[in-house]
Amino acid sequence: MANTKEERVFNPSRDFSKSAHIAGMEEYRDLHKRSLADPESFWRKLSDEFEWHKQWTILRKWDPPRCRWFEDGELNITVNCLDRHVLAGKGDKVAYYWEGEPGDRRSITYKELLSSVCQTANGLKSLGLEKGDRVIIYMPMVVETVVAMLACARLGLVHSVIFGGFSSDAIRDRVLDASARCVITSDGGWRRGKIIPLKSNVDQAVSNNGCPSVEHVIVLNRCENTIQMTPNRDVWWHDLLSEQATTCEPVMVPAEHPLYILYTSGTTGKPKGVVHATGGYMVYTATTSKIVFDLRDDDVYWCTADVGWVTGHSYIVYGILANCASSVMYEGAPDHPDFGRLWKIVQDYKVTVFYTAPTAIRAFIKWGDSWPNNYNLSTLRLIGTVGEPINPDVWNWYRRIIGGNKCPIVDTWWQTETGGIMITPIPGATPTKPGSATLPFFGVDAEILREDGSVADTDERGLLVIKQPWPSMIRGIYKDGWGEPGHDGEFGEQDRFHETYFGKFPGVYLAGDAATRDSDGYFWVIGRIDDVLNVSGHRIGTAEVESSLVSHEAVAEAAVIGVPDELTGEAVAAFVTLKSNYNAGDELQETLRQHVAKTIGAFVRPKILRFTASLPKTRSGKIMRRLLREIAMGGEIQGDTTTLEDINALVDLQKQEE
Ligand code: WTA
Repeated sequence: MANTKEERVFNPSRDFSKSAHIAGMEEYRDLHKRSLADPESFWRKLSDEFEWHKQWTILRKWDPPRCRWFEDGELNITVNCLDRHVLAGKGDKVAYYWEGEPGDRRSITYKELLSSVCQTANGLKSLGLEKGDRVIIYMPMVVETVVAMLACARLGLVHSVIFGGFSSDAIRDRVLDASARCVITSDGGWRRGKIIPLKSNVDQAVSNNGCPSVEHVIVLNRCENTIQMTPNRDVWWHDLLSEQATTCEPVMVPAEHPLYILYTSGTTGKPKGVVHATGGYMVYTATTSKIVFDLRDDDVYWCTADVGWVTGHSYIVYGILANCASSVMYEGAPDHPDFGRLWKIVQDYKVTVFYTAPTAIRAFIKWGDSWPNNYNLSTLRLIGTVGEPINPDVWNWYRRIIGGNKCPIVDTWWQTETGGIMITPIPGATPTKPGSATLPFFGVDAEILREDGSVADTDERGLLVIKQPWPSMIRGIYKDGWGEPGHDGEFGEQDRFHETYFGKFPGVYLAGDAATRDSDGYFWVIGRIDDVLNVSGHRIGTAEVESSLVSHEAVAEAAVIGVPDELTGEAVAAFVTLKSNYNAGDELQETLRQHVAKTIGAFVRPKILRFTASLPKTRSGKIMRRLLREIAMGGEIQGDTTTLEDINALVDLQKQEE
């Protein structure tokens, strides 16, 4: 799809503004200014809506990179997501309308969800798990996945959810890094009519003492799939719960107690475990949910993300439940049994707020307008996107075909590390421009800086930074100075956390994205500045794919880059040199692509895989990625290549191209 320049500005409709939480730009600007100038009163008012076991008195402490919010407060987040609503008489409200891929349906009310969470928490307790222990959750998109997360939070256990698309090596890395005592999984999950073998992926990761910390594996029976149960380690979910009570005292934790670890890709080989703390995360995700999605009591909200990513954590689980909203949750693929599946769900459940990713919208466009046009989407009143920049043409299609020319679009920019939405239109207030995430949310002090730290000019490309701490910001990288028992939270000079996010501009959060700002102050996010790819909105480090490739016996060296792709945004392209006794060929090419899918996950399978005698490097030994990118895209090679160590490498690659 062509990237046309779009100059139109879409003003919020009067109808929408009339009843929106934030009525107009004046109110937005005033509140935004106040949120930065007087954060204490701004956040006090919002946090007062919650149930604190012990009220906080200290709003925040900021000693970069160390940040604490509501530090002396105590709470349990599940009390705020569940008990609070049940006590307020909303127990019969549906929390989730769930639909399995084969078509099975279930809805669960807040009261029922609370009982399930308590029962599951009692099950976890019976295994001897204690506050602070890490629990891995590797599940399909079923209600029990949310139950498992909340059951952990009920007890102060720290969950780490792994996206079901990851395979065994990725699981092992994360289990080892978190030294998890328990893994919760299922016999499988449905995807395009097939069963994803989740339990056997776990077995491959943790069996044969692969992960010595793991004492228990809890297995949900989702698909009646035949699996192996290891005695004294594995227990069926239903057996564990059969004798458990449906009430469970919540364990109160300090506001800074870790709620979860979520692994995400960075520049270096291993994914980093982003740690989020309880209190600030709760207040921020709840506030953004309410305002950005304009949530009201009768909404049926649907976020199509997987719970295994941060979008699912914040905007399927915590932020949404904190608002006592009703959500749709769907287990399977959007094109199963046909391309109309999602629109049928919107019609069947009368979805009013819909949140998805640009990569999904590009697929919808490819499948043709007749699919959405065949269903009644008139209940939709607000639509959103997240995960990557949205091309103006795609934005316009989304507005027209899905939003019926009437729904405001919220293009929300944020990251695993930010915990919640940072730059976004406020529906009803912000005039939108296709392709721009527009303006910062309340409490967010965003800016574009040059390399030297000075502020970039209007329309000048620079680095996106956040200058003040916000409640749901990353608290640390697990094991790198945070979260270990007895660790006092001091950071060493070499700390990866400090270096990654606060090293470039002292005390300023570096997002890792390039962006510009226009004359209205609107932000236009361009993309990552580091070696992180965005494939279908999923973050993946080039170094991770490279280590997967070199772990294959045939591979001597590998270089991975991203190339533009119509559908997935970016696609993985790999250049591989082989060990001397292996021959390049179609078969090995397929084997290696498969190897990446098997070790990391199918969604990172290289689209392009090329063999080369050697990789082009600079004299200092750095792989010349720019050159590889040009070769992968089949373009002319331009620019200075005189620093090539092995000019033959380039020549060889060019030959393959011909
Ligand atoms: C990109 C997902 C442009 C960006 C919540 C960021 C976006 C990375 C947008 C984080 C957007 C996310 N416009 N780019 N609206 N939203 N990104 O950690 O490059 O999976 O740094 O968090 O996605 O990806 P992550």
